Amino acid sequence: MRPCAKHVSLLLAAALVAALGLLLPSGGGAWAQDEEKPYQIKDGVVDWYTFSGFRRYHAECHVCHGPDGLGSSFAPALTETMKTMSYEDYLEIVVNGRENVGTTAQSKMPGFGENRNVMCFIDDIYAYLMARADGVLGRGRPKKEAKPAEAKERDEDCMS
Ligand code: HEC
Repeated sequence: MRPCAKHVSLLLAAALVAALGLLLPSGGGAWAQDEEKPYQIKDGVVDWYTFSGFRRYHAECHVCHGPDGLGSSFAPALTETMKTMSYEDYLEIVVNGRENVGTTAQSKMPGFGENRNVMCFIDDIYAYLMARADGVLGRGRPKKEAKPAEAKERDEDCMS
């Protein structure tokens, strides 16, 4: 297992690269949309990464945050949180976790920094939650584009 700090800085570097990628023109193809958004949706079909975020969210986060990001009695609705939370704060909380000790019932967000099933897909989950928060993606399993070769490579590199 790689040391945590290195793991996180690698992830941040990867996140930066991903963020830069979003700033580049998409080639004006069929997916061209608001370049600042982390997701792409066309005729109700989402890009692979956003779909991957849907799947990973429902594997790792929904037990506490509710299906479709809608929240539960235990953890806040991320469809609301992500309307205002910065990408950096999102990373910080998901990597390190957070404990709210101010309330009578303690609620704890676990840190996922050591969990590759989350860390490898942290940008995908972000894209999914942002699409939900922006109100452009409904509840349930979205229709998706085919998995691109780059995504296959990325997943294999990160998970191995
Ligand atoms: C074991 C339950 C649990 C799991 C699993 C969990 N969370 Fe949380 N999460 C919480 C709780 C409880 C809070 C509120 C903590 C607090 O008030 O400080 C929280 C808070 C957050 C916040 C800040 C919300 C806000 O409004 O400030 C984000 C973002 C978040 N979680 C993302 C995630 C993501 C992404 C996943 C999946 C990778 C996840 N959480 C999995 C319990 C969980």
